[in-house]
Amino acid sequence: RTIGVVLAGGVGARLGLSIPKQMVKVAGRTILEHTVAAMNASPDIDELIVMITPGWSEQTATLLGSRFAKVTRILEGGSTRNETTRKVLDALGSDEIKVVLHDAVRPLLDERIIADCVNALDDFGAVDVVIPSADTIVAVGPDEIITSIPDRSVLRRGQTPQAFRLSVLRAAYAKALDDPYFSATDDCGVVLKYLPEVPIKTVAGAEHNLKVTHPVDLFIADKLFQLASQTAPQHDADPVGSQSLAGRTVVVLGG
Ligand code: CTP
Repeated sequence: RTIGVVLAGGVGARLGLSIPKQMVKVAGRTILEHTVAAMNASPDIDELIVMITPGWSEQTATLLGSRFAKVTRILEGGSTRNETTRKVLDALGSDEIKVVLHDAVRPLLDERIIADCVNALDDFGAVDVVIPSADTIVAVGPDEIITSIPDRSVLRRGQTPQAFRLSVLRAAYAKALDDPYFSATDDCGVVLKYLPEVPIKTVAGAEHNLKVTHPVDLFIADKLFQLASQTAPQHDADPVGSQSLAGRTVVVLGG
């Protein structure tokens, strides 16, 4: 059994609007609805839990209504992303399940990525979604002075979903809770730090699986949804045809 989790507990400070960024409308509906629709349409997900910004659960229940059959619970998140994940762990039952955690603000997720994550969990306890970096990544120290320029061929940019056997994620968070020096990382970072013996498999993400972070991302996401609706048959549960979208992305971003 696989449970999908939509992490929508943030406020979107960097976008700087008066509402959480997952509640902003892009291509006719909220970013949250797009993301929930994509997860709901995946044949690899059996049940969905939505973790929402504290104070927003009633609006979210009204917004989602009964359109997304797999959504069983809408719960309030915590004050940090790690705290939101910890609340997810508290809300889940048996250890013997797979859990797929996805940022609510990556609305262009496609079925192929979810399938690759869930399949990889047959052989691995933890899975991350990554893409190569087109930009060179430089590390800086105090005063923004470069300390190293790691070889780009071994660097990847982390996206979501991140997928886990629940027992692995629970064990990692149990150790993190005991660590007075715990500092925030993504969930794979928690496994890497506290269960270093567990290999974390990577699967290929996609350029279009972008995270809405800054205002420009709203424009890009809107354009990508327009292209998806032109190139893929549109139905409510699956707004993005990933193959055709991936093919068109080059045209948009290059032109
Ligand atoms: N998130 C969450 N609970 C939190 C903080 C973040 O579930 N306490 C979720 C966000 O809703 C988002 C995802 O984690 O879907 C990725 O986080 P990010 O892009 O950093 O979102 P925000 O924290 O909302 O943005 P900002 O850092 O600009 O405030």
